[in-house]
Amino acid sequence: MACRYGIGLSLLGLLAFAGCDAPQAEFKPNLLYTRAKLVKSNRDLHKAEVRVQLEDIADILTALMGTPDDPRLPVLPNVDLGSHLQLDQLRRAAGAVGSTQAGTEHGLYRQHCVHCHGITGDGLGPTAPFLNPYPRDYRRGLFKFKSTPTTLPPTKDDLHRILREGVAGTAMPSFKVLTEDEREALVQYVMYLSIRGQIERALIYEISENLDVGERLIDLSLKTKDPEAFQEQLDVVLAIAADTVAPWLEANENITEVPPPPENWNTAESIAEGKRLFFTSLASCSKCHGDLALGDGQTNDYDEWTKELQPGDEDALAEFLALGALPPRNILPRNLRQGVYRGGRRPVDLFWRIKNGIAGTPMPAASQELTNDQIWHLIAYVRSLPYDAIALPRNYKPAVPRERL
Ligand code: HEC
Ligand code: HEC
Repeated sequence: MACRYGIGLSLLGLLAFAGCDAPQAEFKPNLLYTRAKLVKSNRDLHKAEVRVQLEDIADILTALMGTPDDPRLPVLPNVDLGSHLQLDQLRRAAGAVGSTQAGTEHGLYRQHCVHCHGITGDGLGPTAPFLNPYPRDYRRGLFKFKSTPTTLPPTKDDLHRILREGVAGTAMPSFKVLTEDEREALVQYVMYLSIRGQIERALIYEISENLDVGERLIDLSLKTKDPEAFQEQLDVVLAIAADTVAPWLEANENITEVPPPPENWNTAESIAEGKRLFFTSLASCSKCHGDLALGDGQTNDYDEWTKELQPGDEDALAEFLALGALPPRNILPRNLRQGVYRGGRRPVDLFWRIKNGIAGTPMPAASQELTNDQIWHLIAYVRSLPYDAIALPRNYKPAVPRERL
């Protein structure tokens, strides 16, 4: 019915219609985390039971967050999501691609991001398998290049910087050509997809850790039968959602302060001190980045997204791959002689990378014993490396093919 109506209107030239065969966009359930937590765990839930739980989660998420075509903002206890996300901005980023008569584009996420990051923000768009690194799966709320400590969400400014600059050395492009306003809508939509994905994970976790077998998160039939029990269930779900949202709203208060560099920073003396530190067990940079800083030290580790697929367990991995996971690849430490910094090349960016580490990757936060001045000297050394001629030993063979470094 709606379809015929659409065609009728488009014939009148009033509406550009997407076409009746266009499949309805839907958020996909997080089957990988469900498998890890509910199917093969100390829970080991039966298939039929998992199905009921997944349906409940889908209903809860739709009620709280809406759909890819019609996003919603939940009203949650003690958190004011509206201070960070506005429905009109989300609507501009969501939905099908098009523009208003005044020329305002909407459907920005589907136009610019979806083929890599996927409708659900799971990093599983059709282009994803061909990229290295893979596009970010937003659903853990875990972002790499930010001004806040590892475990905390990025600020809006951090996400704006990513969209403006892209991620150098990866497929993630710069969106400088968009307007500031369009980027704001997209930043909000990334936050929206992250929060949605995090709530979903938290609900799966709640089932796996805190519910008895057979017990449900929300049972709609209780609404009339036993309103008190229903309200109790609802309160638990809303509290989980509120806990997920709160750190996003506090991100600006948690920005890691960057002190000014020491007087002698970036002098020969400072670079030499950075070099000395690079090889100490206190900084342990050379352990991963290698003695020549070519990124060929520890090369057999995985990032956090990949670790969840249990890459060391062949049978488990096969099941995750069958559910749509992308094949695991080792994460390589950066080749610091190339001078390509994914998180930005300003000294302040490198300070945040080294002080806080890179979330979701093996790159650790600096030891508490490393002073800020020492971090600045390390930055001076790192920044000198692309200009530092190295003589490779005659029998030098990189641990990984040179083109991958
Ligand atoms: C051609 C593929 C591609 C497109 C298109 C793309 N991205 Fe990405 N994106 C990536 C890849 C690859 C990464 C991972 C980079 C890494 O891990 O270093 C990434 C990472 C990100 C990150 C995470 C940065 C961090 O600090 O962890 C954000 C946020 C992001 N993209 C947002 C977007 C948005 C919004 C759009 C659309 C406006 C978009 N991307 C379009 C490939 C893409
Ligand atoms: C346990 C392994 C490990 C240690 C120790 C380590 N790194 Fe890293 N480092 C990595 C990995 C892995 C990456 C790539 C992360 C990614 O995917 O972006 C990285 C990335 C980097 C980057 C690139 C940042 C960017 O924006 O692209 C710099 C700079 C860096 N490391 C410097 C250092 C310094 C300096 C030290 C010592 C204080 C150090 N690392 C210690 C593993 C390590």
